[in-house]
Order: sequence, then structure tokens, then C-alpha cells
Amino acid sequence: MDQPKTCRIKRIVEENPLTRTYFLDCNMKISPGQFLMLWIPGVDEKPFVCSYSGKETGITVEKKGKFTEKLFMMKKGDLVGIRGPYGNGFTKKKNAIALGGGLGAAPIASLIDEFGCDGIIGAHTKSNLLFLSRFKKKVQYSTSDGSYGFKGRPTALLEKKLSEKKYDVVYCCGPEGMMKAVIEICRKYKVECEVSLERYMRCGFGVCGACACNDRLVCKDGPVFNSRQLSGMSDFGNKGMIKSGKKVPLSEYFAWRE
Ligand SMILES: Cc1cc2nc3c(=O)[nH]c(=O)nc-3n(C[C@H](O)[C@H](O)[C@H](O)COP(=O)(O)OP(=O)(O)OC[C@H]3O[C@@H](n4cnc5c(N)ncnc54)[C@H](O)[C@@H]3O)c2cc1C
Ligand code: FES
Repeated sequence: MDQPKTCRIKRIVEENPLTRTYFLDCNMKISPGQFLMLWIPGVDEKPFVCSYSGKETGITVEKKGKFTEKLFMMKKGDLVGIRGPYGNGFTKKKNAIALGGGLGAAPIASLIDEFGCDGIIGAHTKSNLLFLSRFKKKVQYSTSDGSYGFKGRPTALLEKKLSEKKYDVVYCCGPEGMMKAVIEICRKYKVECEVSLERYMRCGFGVCGACACNDRLVCKDGPVFNSRQLSGMSDFGNKGMIKSGKKVPLSEYFAWRE
């Protein structure tokens, strides 16, 4: 197993009251969509996809439970451990558009930076929108309540964009229900689609089996899968395995706390 590398928190940016970006002082090549295992000694080790993977390495974290609460107590200059990068990342193609819903904007933002493609970032309200001042052009924002940008679901904005311009591929990350809807839209417009999944992870590199989604390991075969692969994965949009190894409906999986 890879040993964690020690690295320093270079700076912390508050994105909204529950979400912060941690810039890490580490020099490594990371492709958009790949993730790191972040270790806080004496606490735990958890997976986070990179929201910055070019000149700077950054992760954007929502405060949820024990681990993320501890991370929120850490300051600039503190040390953490990282392993990785792990997983496959998105495939770079021409004429692409990327959609990030909620916290799913994290990998999508690093992808837009590096692939230079069009983008849509959506959230319920303006105060939940991530990376509002990061992109000058190419990205359109949507909010369900109309408090910023396009009023409605980001999937509605995606349909509008696909009906106006020919794209070859859609990249997506967000709630699994939204990703299922995006795959349907892509089928209608005959566009390829790649989405990034989240499942419980322990080792991060294909040994423990904790992240299985049907016969695929999300940490090693994913976290990015294309729509053809997903059509053979009945757990996608339906089931997830919690820490005990029990498979539960996704509504329970995402509500479960350690
Ligand atoms: C590939 C991947 C990329 C991720 N990227 C991000 C990201 O960019 N930003 C972000 O805020 N979160 C991300 N997560 C989720 C993140 O790992 C969890 O939010 C974190 O582990 C929560 O830990 P906790 O102790 O604070 O909360 P807990 O109370 O332990 O759990 C809260 C929720 O976090 C998830 N979770 C908990 N432990 C794990 C684990 N070991 N592996 C996977 N999910 C877990 C579950 O959905 C759980 O319901 C990612 C998860 C995966 C698998
Ligand atoms: S997290 Fe261990 S196999 Fe995927």
C-alpha cells in the first residue's frame, strides 16, 4: 500500500458556510476526476476528488461528520497525509460540456480548467453555488429558485444547450438521480456521457472491495464511468454499500453517518 505523503495546508477558502476549499502544498500530477485519500492522524482517512488539479492541488469539502468537522478545525500551515491520486478521471474529448450539481461541481471545475470545455454549475440557491468567481467565460450557472443565473434545474439548462449546439460528450458529477437524468438526456441527443460516482471507500486502490457497485470497483474501475458501462450496473441510481458491507437504497446510503 502507498504510504501517505505529508503535506501542508497552504490556504483555505470559504466557499459557503458549510463548504471550504483546502489548497495543499504537494507536487503531483492529477487528472480531472481523480481523487486523493486524505489522512488526519488519529482521526481517519477519507476520499476527496480534486477541485483544483493543475498548477495547484485543492479539494473542496462539505462539513458532514466526524472527519470533515475535524478538517474544518485545521488551519493554514497544518499537516495532513495524502495518498493517491487514485481512479481513472475523465477522458479528454473535443466539443465537450460539463455539468456539476451541488458539490459535484468540484471535479467538474478542475475539468473545465484543464479541458477548457463549456460548463454548467447548478445549485438550489445562489448561496450554495460553488466557484462563482472562478470562471469568467464558458460556464453558466443555474439555481432552482432563480436567485442567480438560469432559473431551474441544471439538467434543463443542459437540454437547452444540447438543442442549440452539437456536443460530442457530456461530463457530469452530482446527485445520482441527476446523473441518471443526464444519461437519459444524452441518449435523447445521441451524445456520449461520462459521470463520476461516489461509494464508501476504505483502501482507495482496489483491494478491500468496500466500494463495489455491482462487479465494478468505484475506486479502481472508476470513479468515472461512461453510460455504456453504467447500463450494465443495476446498483447505479439504486443501491450503495455502507461500512458494514450491507447494501442499502441510495436514500439510506447518503443519509448514513459513521
Ligand atoms: C471518490 C469520492 C470523492 C469524494 N469527493 C468529495 C469531495 O470532493 N468533497 C466532499 O466534501 N466529499 C467528497 N466525498 C465524500 C467524502 O469522502 C465524505 O463526505 C467524507 O468521508 C465524510 O466523512 P465524515 O466523517 O465527515 O462524515 P460521515 O458522518 O462519516 O459520513 C457522511 C457521509 O459521507 C460519506 N462517506 C463517509 N465515509 C466515507 C468513505 N470512507 N468513503 C466514501 N464516502 C464516505 C457517506 O455518504 C456518508 O453518508 C467523496 C467520496 C468519494 C468516494
Ligand atoms: S475502496 Fe477498497 S476496493 Fe475500492
